[in-house]
Amino acid sequence: KWPEGVTIKEVGPRDGLQNEKTFISTDDKIAWINQLSESGLKHIEITSFVNPKWIPALSDATAVATGITKVPGVTYTALVPNLRGLERAFQSNVDEIAVFMSASETHNQKNINKSIDQTFPVLRDLVRETIMAGKISRGYVSTVFGCPYEGHVKIESVIRVSENLFEMGIAELSLGDTIGVANPKQVQDVLEVLLKRFPADNLAMHFHDTRGTALANILVSLEMGVTTFDSSLGGLGGCPYAPGASGNVATDDLLYMLHGMGIHTGVDQHKLLHASQFIQEKIGRTLPSKSFQAASSA
Ligand code: HMG
Ligand code: MG
Repeated sequence: KWPEGVTIKEVGPRDGLQNEKTFISTDDKIAWINQLSESGLKHIEITSFVNPKWIPALSDATAVATGITKVPGVTYTALVPNLRGLERAFQSNVDEIAVFMSASETHNQKNINKSIDQTFPVLRDLVRETIMAGKISRGYVSTVFGCPYEGHVKIESVIRVSENLFEMGIAELSLGDTIGVANPKQVQDVLEVLLKRFPADNLAMHFHDTRGTALANILVSLEMGVTTFDSSLGGLGGCPYAPGASGNVATDDLLYMLHGMGIHTGVDQHKLLHASQFIQEKIGRTLPSKSFQAASSA
């Protein structure tokens, strides 16, 4: 019934740090990403090349992306909103470009200062240039399960944005529960519709754990055939332009659950424990991950 293996996409250095009040120094970010690279994780989203005025926490994107020690076989991704960001990402030689937009009009506007229809041509150019440069492109659709401004989001909007992103040529679409409101039944309902249109292998789930439902949502996604999940070490994360959003599902908790179920990920939990300890000290507050707290007090 369960898959043999699952792919984990670590988004801690990007989603995890973008909303942190404490500025993590460039050297600490690099040291942390290097620890993640040594853990067996094969996909790490390391930073974002957005307008630094919008996300000051990641204003050192270029220094981070060019300062890390790349491990062969690991894909290093950066989030990019426009051509200016793409240029910076290419200069830093990242492997994969993640483009992003929302299924709800208001969050799209607040997050990237454009309407949904104004965003399509921008992302189309980004994906085309990325493919032409021989790099991979990934897409995010935010507010799939609810919007902090509009509440319920129509499945038709999710389908429309997803279809557009796939038509542009993205290799994978990550479905975002930006503010952590989804429940397992809703995940089933949404996936039932989307899996009729897009193959499970091209989908990833991106759950924030604001209300404690993320692991349950992952479990039903697994049952429905999705095997790629975004997570953030320690459970850090959140979008500053989504009020009330908190951390992503913790990589530590996800690994604890999957490994306990006999599902392999290729990731060494023990090595990540040190990486969680490291970032907890730098952030200066207790990380949300329950399994990390249990392991560190054991
Ligand atoms: P804007 O202000 O409309 O941009 O922002 P603009 O094109 O009018 O440019 C204004 C100024 O910014 C110009 O400088 C540009 O050069 C500069 P000036 O001429 O005034 O001196 N600029 C840039 N500088 C560096 N890099 C760039 C860049 N772009 C413009 N890339 C923009 C539009 C999209 C840029 C802005 O709204 C932005 O950066 N938004 C990003 C917000 C963000 O990062 N949110 C969090 C990530 S999304 C998320 O967390 C959700 C996700 O995790 C999935 C989920 O959970 O659902 C992915
Ligand atoms: Mg997110």
